Amino acid sequence: MGFLSRRKPKAAPVAIDENNPIEEDLARMEEFVPDRHDDDDGAAPAGPVADTGPSSSQAAGEDPESAPPAGEPDSPDESSEEVSLEMEPSEGAAVATEPSEEVLEDDDEPGDGRMKAVDLIAPTRLDFLNEKAAAAEEQPTDTAQVIAFANQKGGVAKTTTTLNLAVAFAESGYRVLCVDLDPQGNLTMSQGIDPDKVEKSLYDVLVNDMPLAEIIVKREIDIAVASIDLAGAEIAMSTKIGRERTLEKALKEVAGDYDYVCIDTPPSLGLLTINALTAANKVIVPVQCEYLSMRGLVQLQNTLRMIQENLNPNVRIEGILPTMLDTRTIHAKEAIEILEENFGDLVFRSRIRKAIKFAEAPVKGSSVLKYDSDSSAANYYRELAKEVLANGSS
Ligand SMILES: Nc1ncnc2c1ncn2[C@@H]1O[C@H](COP(=O)(O)OP(=O)(O)O)[C@@H](O)[C@H]1O
Ligand SMILES: [Mg+2]
Repeated sequence: MGFLSRRKPKAAPVAIDENNPIEEDLARMEEFVPDRHDDDDGAAPAGPVADTGPSSSQAAGEDPESAPPAGEPDSPDESSEEVSLEMEPSEGAAVATEPSEEVLEDDDEPGDGRMKAVDLIAPTRLDFLNEKAAAAEEQPTDTAQVIAFANQKGGVAKTTTTLNLAVAFAESGYRVLCVDLDPQGNLTMSQGIDPDKVEKSLYDVLVNDMPLAEIIVKREIDIAVASIDLAGAEIAMSTKIGRERTLEKALKEVAGDYDYVCIDTPPSLGLLTINALTAANKVIVPVQCEYLSMRGLVQLQNTLRMIQENLNPNVRIEGILPTMLDTRTIHAKEAIEILEENFGDLVFRSRIRKAIKFAEAPVKGSSVLKYDSDSSAANYYRELAKEVLANGSS
């Protein structure tokens, strides 16, 4: 296509050409590309079952306790908002209480009737600080890496990637939970569960605050199932306070039980997807290797930036995954070149090629890794799993 044949040589990345909307799209795409190397996380992946230690402390360190986006960093007293009151003092509490006791001892000597430092702190405040310090110590230390699979375009292999990558993680010994946040329930179906017959689903978690553990079904991996009524969840949640954080909160209750949580999202950027991006620390974007699929990336980047600014500063794109690749077509090869020119090393090196097994496996209610374990289709996702694990530890 004209779009593809007019791409720039590698040495000269992106120059905006007159009023061509496609060129502008590409320029905007590049503008939004976060630099993977600038990421602050140094994220070691959650370790396999046998060695969750290092990963979990990392995850706990970066995630829920340390950086509530709504909180003001230095203002535990401005605590009219629940979030900042809960989160901020917990780390500082130990620091705040210990020095006050030291001061108490130093001041103890003279006995000149002067007030001791500890007397200056209201007893209720002191209790509060001590309780917070104790609570901080009791927090479970291991927390799952949460990966959302998002692209508002349908049919780009979000569900296929969520399931097969999750199973590849599980094969490597990791504890994995899949979350089916798409009302179509394709992920649920791919594990042989009929979403029409499910009694308790994510709808109950998101709308009625049912504990997530109650709707988890064990199959190849654990799966938090969708039901058909999930389609009504966005409207039912719309008046809820903290509606964007409902999934994040629900996941916290089980996060210590898993190394990876993989969230499949619907083909839209509505409240369900926003819940997924708010709960996630990584986003994998499956992209079909053609122009129209890539165009949607600009919109997704905009949404993600909005989430980073308002709800979840820690979320970042883990990678863009070229899917359904047919290496025989020039169009697909050129589409990949354009992706790499615009998104650099944000594009995974792994490629998911077209294979009929991806359509066959869900009919049998299984992943491709189980359906035909030795197939090259299964190995595409094993390779991707290695790459994600390696990224996490670099
Ligand atoms: N690599 C692939 N090769 C061939 N077909 C694929 C591949 N990946 C996915 N599919 C098929 O494409 C369709 C859409 O995939 P799906 O994962 O449901 O996309 P999404 O969740 O983005 O809508 C499904 O029928 C799936 O079996
Ligand atoms: Mg899907």
